[in-house]
Amino acid sequence: MIPLIGILQSQKNPPHYPRFKQVPFLDLFIFSPADLLRFESHMHVLILRNENWIPQLLPLPQAVYNQVYTRDPTFAQRLEERIGSARVFNTVTQLDKWKVAQILQHSPLGQFVPKTRLYTWQAIPSLIQDNRPMIIKPRYGHQGHGVFLLKPDKSSWQLLQSSNKPLLTFTDEREAKKHLLTQFRKSRWLLQEFIVSDSSEERVFDLRYLVQRGSLGQWNVTGTLSRVALRDYFVTNICKTIVPVEQLISSTLKDELEEISLQTAQILHGEIGHLGEISVDFMVDDQEKPWIIEVNGLPAKEPFIFLKHPPTLQKLYRFPLEYAYFLATQRK
Ligand SMILES: Nc1ncnc2c1ncn2[C@@H]1O[C@H](COP(=O)(O)OP(=O)(O)O)[C@@H](O)[C@H]1O
Ligand SMILES: [Mg+2]
Repeated sequence: MIPLIGILQSQKNPPHYPRFKQVPFLDLFIFSPADLLRFESHMHVLILRNENWIPQLLPLPQAVYNQVYTRDPTFAQRLEERIGSARVFNTVTQLDKWKVAQILQHSPLGQFVPKTRLYTWQAIPSLIQDNRPMIIKPRYGHQGHGVFLLKPDKSSWQLLQSSNKPLLTFTDEREAKKHLLTQFRKSRWLLQEFIVSDSSEERVFDLRYLVQRGSLGQWNVTGTLSRVALRDYFVTNICKTIVPVEQLISSTLKDELEEISLQTAQILHGEIGHLGEISVDFMVDDQEKPWIIEVNGLPAKEPFIFLKHPPTLQKLYRFPLEYAYFLATQRK
């Protein structure tokens, strides 16, 4: 019998991304958390049959590919109590950037992690006196919203949001402190060393490495791309263009980033939860040194569409299904 694999989505809609035409090696269905709560041993799901998603009542799956954006592992844990341990991935998808930074900082990859601190009120005076540009960003990602830069400028401070046009300018220290106290609430934000990207490039860019497990459970880099920022923006998530990484970095650096990405996945798996795919975002400074800017636990595949390379796209949709197959066929 071929294994039954569930894709957990917050809404039970057929996926709109490149349709799975056929996945002959497994039975694939879509379900939402609500479906699981309603019944004990069966669920109303959408199963893939001849390129169509058909409603059907089915037993619980043998493995689950979690596509719900959540920082809470309890749902995955409850599911695993019923279908067997280590059968759901990723158990958390909205990663705690503070936890990730700490784990990586204390690992052999520490040298690639920008200095990161939890934002506290006590940190504000030193933040202002440091005289170094600092990123202020949410501890839990909001998909690009709310990334600020506090930048000293002669005897004043500028607060920027996404673009290089200052949002606010503070001419004295007290004013700056007062504003920071009210705008950024404690513990929800991180302070991070600002990585100044290679000044020979006209626009800021980052490099995204998609790392996924395959049919034997091994980690692979299945896709890479680069996001080039809009002119006069310091963030790459409001991006103008997506290009192959080869257009911006040397093949030596490309290989180095591949190695760091694979190690990142290996280090975070287990420490964070059960992981089957992540993406690692890098920036490169003008010394050609790579820095890990973010690790994403629910990596979007849509940006890879812009590379116009169907085999890559096929691969990165297929890998998680192969990994689910691998988990489903493991002995309990
Ligand atoms: N330490 C940093 N140095 C320079 N740029 C940064 C830094 N941290 C974030 N950025 C910029 O801000 C963008 C968004 O930050 P990120 O940590 O990826 O948060 P999210 O994608 O969850 O909003 C990044 O893509 C990058 O362009
Ligand atoms: Mg990001």
